[in-house]
Amino acid sequence: MSILDQFRLDGRVALVTGSGQGIGRAFALALAEAGADVVVADLNAQTAAAVVKEIEQRGRKAVAALGDVGKEEDAKSMVAAATERLGGLDILVNNANAGGKGDLDWIGRNLKALIVSSRLAVEAMKKRGRGKIVNVASISGSTVNVRGFSYCVGKAGVVHLTRCMAVEWACHNVNVNCISPSYTLSPARRDDNEEMRQRIRSVTPMGWYERPEDMCGTLIYLVSDASNYLTGQEIIVDGGHLLSDWLLWPPPARVAPPLVSPEQEAASLIHDLDVLGVKHDGQGFVAKEERRTG
Ligand SMILES: NC(=O)c1ccc[n+]([C@@H]2O[C@H](COP(=O)([O-])OP(=O)(O)OC[C@H]3O[C@@H](n4cnc5c(N)ncnc54)[C@H](O)[C@@H]3O)[C@@H](O)[C@H]2O)c1
Repeated sequence: MSILDQFRLDGRVALVTGSGQGIGRAFALALAEAGADVVVADLNAQTAAAVVKEIEQRGRKAVAALGDVGKEEDAKSMVAAATERLGGLDILVNNANAGGKGDLDWIGRNLKALIVSSRLAVEAMKKRGRGKIVNVASISGSTVNVRGFSYCVGKAGVVHLTRCMAVEWACHNVNVNCISPSYTLSPARRDDNEEMRQRIRSVTPMGWYERPEDMCGTLIYLVSDASNYLTGQEIIVDGGHLLSDWLLWPPPARVAPPLVSPEQEAASLIHDLDVLGVKHDGQGFVAKEERRTG
């Protein structure tokens, strides 16, 4: 098989949780473009249906599986959507968070959801004799950038859970790895104003605010045959952000402009806000009444 053929996913079936918008949607579309059929699992029927349509337009099969990844019955029906409606399961992307009130509840619910979904997926993957699981963690699993304990500790847990799962399931030819994004322009960050976007660019060596599509190359590598010997690893896709402790001297002045301009950064966010019916100014800055926080 040629090296580029190793990246193709023809005939594979993927399940992506939280794929109605944001990072999950970009992942679902990339998987379809690489040849996979996709289960679009989400709480939101409207956005999930829109992504199913986008996948079908790319010539692949897609089904929506509506539910909450924090509920075992819903996780079962998501995996069943793959096995019963698309013929099996080869790839699971644990992208959605399960929510929760308070630190311990959040950490517990999120790790439990990952364990439950992944165990169900591995049962289905055993029938194929192989499989790939990718967990979505965060730079917050390595640094403390969010107040309170839940998110940072929970995401650190995702990184180590990835290693434990990798060792546990290698005997079934299932690889388990995780991707850690930096601040990413999805609807989750729709409250960021221009000052915040500029602050994030200024601490990111590559010079732009991460887009969901900036992680798709890494995802396709991790779910394809090209990564069959890689397991239990965290790949931090952050434009160099975590490396940039620029306290004592200013960052090196840019010689070339960033590969992605401020205008190009928000395309995915603008698409999602339009599907959600959230009012914005054309660059993805939302009206005050549309903000998630006060
Ligand atoms: N956006 C960022 O800055 C950023 C940074 C680091 C890590 N992440 C991680 O990336 C992942 C995706 O984030 P995003 O920015 O695309 O978020 P988002 O809020 O834009 O999208 C999340 C999607 O998941 C769905 N969802 C939420 N809870 C669910 C549940 N319990 N069951 C099923 N579906 C559910 C939502 O309906 C939505 O479609 C998350 O794990 C997040 O922690 C995001």
